[in-house]
This record gives sequence, structure tokens and C-alpha cells, in this order.
Amino acid sequence: MRKPIIAGNWKMNNTARAGVALVEELKPLVKNANCEVVVCVPAIDIPAVSEAVKGSNIALGAQNVHFAPKGAYTGEISAEMLNEYGVKYVIIGHSERRQYFGETDETVNKRTLAALEAGLIPIVCIGESLEERETGKTEAVLAKQIKEGMKGIDDISKIVIAYEPVWAIGTGKTATAEQANETIGFIRKTCAEVFCPKCAEKVRIQYGGSMNAGNCKQLMAMPEIDGGLIGGASLKAHDFSEIANYDKGGMAGMKLSKELL
Ligand code: 13P
Repeated sequence: MRKPIIAGNWKMNNTARAGVALVEELKPLVKNANCEVVVCVPAIDIPAVSEAVKGSNIALGAQNVHFAPKGAYTGEISAEMLNEYGVKYVIIGHSERRQYFGETDETVNKRTLAALEAGLIPIVCIGESLEERETGKTEAVLAKQIKEGMKGIDDISKIVIAYEPVWAIGTGKTATAEQANETIGFIRKTCAEVFCPKCAEKVRIQYGGSMNAGNCKQLMAMPEIDGGLIGGASLKAHDFSEIANYDKGGMAGMKLSKELL
């Protein structure tokens, strides 16, 4: 069974004060959501937002974590620092970090293993650029990101994978539900080959890239898609709650793994 997970990635938006106000607005709106609801906030917002989410069904996430337990890494944040504030999830390898901050599959791998070791749940982001899609390289790019970025993970179902086609991020261009489902199916198949088929059936794979209140139902109806990583639409409580409540009144929660069907 895979419990869908809708996570907001605030990116570099919201001061701590604005973040708390957003969460306060969000809490009553998502309290009956049938999925896991997460907000991944800027590091400096973590102490305040961690207080604000207490007692609610909103879990706290960070946007990065360093691989060393501590030391001379100016500007970085360790897993222990995140743990102290009850952070549950951490985004690793977002395409913006790969593009602007020199993140590679190797550093993604190191961060992911360190996060797991510390009891955090990594949300590992993978995805192809427009040029890679148009030249037919999508599968090769994703396979490499999986093989190298997730190397050495003993149980792949302990992480969340976010499939974010770079061309769909912040552009208003969403992958069609069929496109996203097909590509996520490929990611699951690759996980089955590289890791184990059972873990691959259990691993939750989100879609990310211009997901919003208007397109979330269609995307979430797809059998392979287990959630969303939401940028822009996570910055407004109402918009984000519409996504988190995508199946309100419909069939709830769990996606059955193939072996149970
Ligand atoms: P948008 O939803 O703004 O396209 O961003 C997606 C994303 O990058 C989430 O991590």
C-alpha cells in the first residue's frame, strides 16, 4: 500500500513569520486530507514552523541536508540540526540545486545516505531537461540519476522519489497525466531492476512541475503517481489545500501495490 504524499516546496519564499501565518491558515483547510501533507520550508523558518505544525497533520520538511555529521562546511545544515526540530522529510537533489549549486548524482547520493542514516526521509528529485526529452534521452537520464544518486540504499521504499521534469518546473507547462504516469512507471521499473521488485512496488513516487488545483485530480488518478511536490501553488493556503484534498469525497488514500490487486 502506498499512502499518497502531497508536499509543498516553498523554495526561497516566506520569512519565518510569513511561513507561520501560511501554516496557521493551512491547518484547518487540510485537517481531513487523506494523504500525507508536508511543507518543506527554508532552513531559517524551521524552528518557527516546527512549533506551528505541532498537533496538526502537517509534517515538516527541509530543502537540503549536508552529508557530514558536522564540521567545516560553511552555510550547510546537518541532519542532527534538522532532527532537533522534528523535521521528517528532506528534499535532496532538486533540479534548482543541480543547476545553480553544483549538485551532482554523487553529492545527491551522499546526502541521501546521510539523511537515511539519521532517520530522515529523503525526497530525492530526478528529472530530464527539455533538450533531453526532445532528443529521446529521458529514460537514460533518469536511469543514471537512479543508479548513481540512489546507490547503496538498502531499501528504496524508505525514500520518496520526486519526478520533476525540469521543463515543467515553474513554467506553467505540466506533463500530461499520461506522460507523467508513463515516466513514473519507467522509474518504478528501473527501481525494481536496480533494487528489488517488492521495494519498487512500495516506493512512493511523486510528480512535480506546475501541479495545481486544476490538474491535480487528473494526475493523482494515475496508478503510478503517488503524490505531488508543489512549488508555486504551495505558497497559497487555499491552492495548496485544494491539492491536498484532491480526493475529498472520492476514494480515499491508499494506492494498492500490484501484488495486492
Ligand atoms: P512549480 O510547482 O512551481 O512548477 O515547482 C515545482 C517544483 O520544483 C517543486 O519542487
